[in-house]
Amino acid sequence: MPSADYRAGFRTQTEELENVRLTIEGSFPEWLRGDLIGNGPGRFEAGETELRHWFDPLAMLRRFRIDDGEVTYANRFVKSRDYEYATESGGVRTPFPGTPPDRPVWTRIRQVLGGTFPDNPIIGVQRLGDEVAAVTESPTALVFDPDTLETTGRRDLTAGLDSDLTLAHVHYDHDEAAFYNLGVSYGRETTFTLFRRPGDGGAPTPLTRLRFDESPYVHSFALTERYAVVTVNGFGLDTAGLLRGAVTRETFLDAFRPLDAPTRFVVLDRETGEHEATATAPPAFVYHHANAYERDGEVVVDLVAFDDERAVTRLTMSNLRDDDPDLPVGDLVRYRVPLSGGEAARERLYRGPVEFPMVNYREVGGSRHRYVYLAETDETSSLPTDVTKVDVETGTVRRWRDAGAHPGEPVFVSAPEAAAEDDGVLLSVVLVPETDRSALVCLDAETLTERGRALLPHRLPYGFHGQFYGPSSPGRSMI
Ligand SMILES: [Fe+2]
Repeated sequence: MPSADYRAGFRTQTEELENVRLTIEGSFPEWLRGDLIGNGPGRFEAGETELRHWFDPLAMLRRFRIDDGEVTYANRFVKSRDYEYATESGGVRTPFPGTPPDRPVWTRIRQVLGGTFPDNPIIGVQRLGDEVAAVTESPTALVFDPDTLETTGRRDLTAGLDSDLTLAHVHYDHDEAAFYNLGVSYGRETTFTLFRRPGDGGAPTPLTRLRFDESPYVHSFALTERYAVVTVNGFGLDTAGLLRGAVTRETFLDAFRPLDAPTRFVVLDRETGEHEATATAPPAFVYHHANAYERDGEVVVDLVAFDDERAVTRLTMSNLRDDDPDLPVGDLVRYRVPLSGGEAARERLYRGPVEFPMVNYREVGGSRHRYVYLAETDETSSLPTDVTKVDVETGTVRRWRDAGAHPGEPVFVSAPEAAAEDDGVLLSVVLVPETDRSALVCLDAETLTERGRALLPHRLPYGFHGQFYGPSSPGRSMI
């Protein structure tokens, strides 16, 4: 049934388009002005080599410039060294998450000992002062021109930090005009370094460092008005396996495993870095936090939680493309983390499969929120089928669905002088396999009705994270 085939979201697109005016059905609000810039897979092969995991494909940027009800589109591969190597030498240059390098064993050993990371920046985008960059869990950001999407430079995000890489999911505090993020080093001792970076993209200030004997994996963290909350997964890396992999070709994916540890919520004072509390909960695996805030001696943390490490290990291309994929299920859950430490209480807010949790970040990021927006997946697909809005106060749910179409991360953009938390729109790139095309859909965030869609002249592989940069919005964090 190719007409309803979600596998179209896992197929390479090599066509790069520059500033194509899109046909619009319905309408985009006149007040909506700015760039939605997303990132995600573009090519699922490196020469002859089939890339094996969803985090491996070569990154492709996609940009929607919205102005006066019109939408202009561009897409382009990021010209990383991994991309150049794949294109010129036809193989994998560095240890990709699920695919070992196509390099001689001596090169592989040198890479492991020297701490070589992929520079293929597939996860998302970050703003660094006046620059915009494509990022992943790597020391390197690839700077690009937001007009042409041309790759223009490289930036070492670990400069000034004693860390091997930084997370792709950075926070931005609009009042402080500062970024917060974690520097990470995996090894015999794994460290997470909380740091602040000024809004102009200048040098980072390390605030504190967490140390672990084992190697827990962390993809994002939460920020409240006073605290940074690091949710430390009870799942992570067998670093001996990674070292061995230089010879055996074991990958990050092969080395990913339970650590026989609970989930730990480490609460840090974001001003001083001081350790405030640690609370634990039974193991769960977390990629993304929706939001967190303080309340009566506790921190409320809403996030998407999976049962275990299969949230990573099941995202192989072979499983995702399977007729009957066996996929992990993430639920929207709430943890209440006592500031006195001890046990964090868990409550399920909404049964999944859901991912890409989003709030009105500018308005309620770090403080009490009412609405969480998510991409939800029905049982027939590897890819989301709905955009879902959960009112976490009343439990009321609204959904948008277009049968056979697959919406990506819903990005919230607030209306000017918004009267309510959900006064705005959601922007989501939707894959429509039936027409072998994608579209940018604009939903009313209050009702989840579709206001308009802009039709792309081609199909985009299903993407990961994006940011909306309005004229007065220097950065909504993606979390
Ligand atoms: Fe992510």
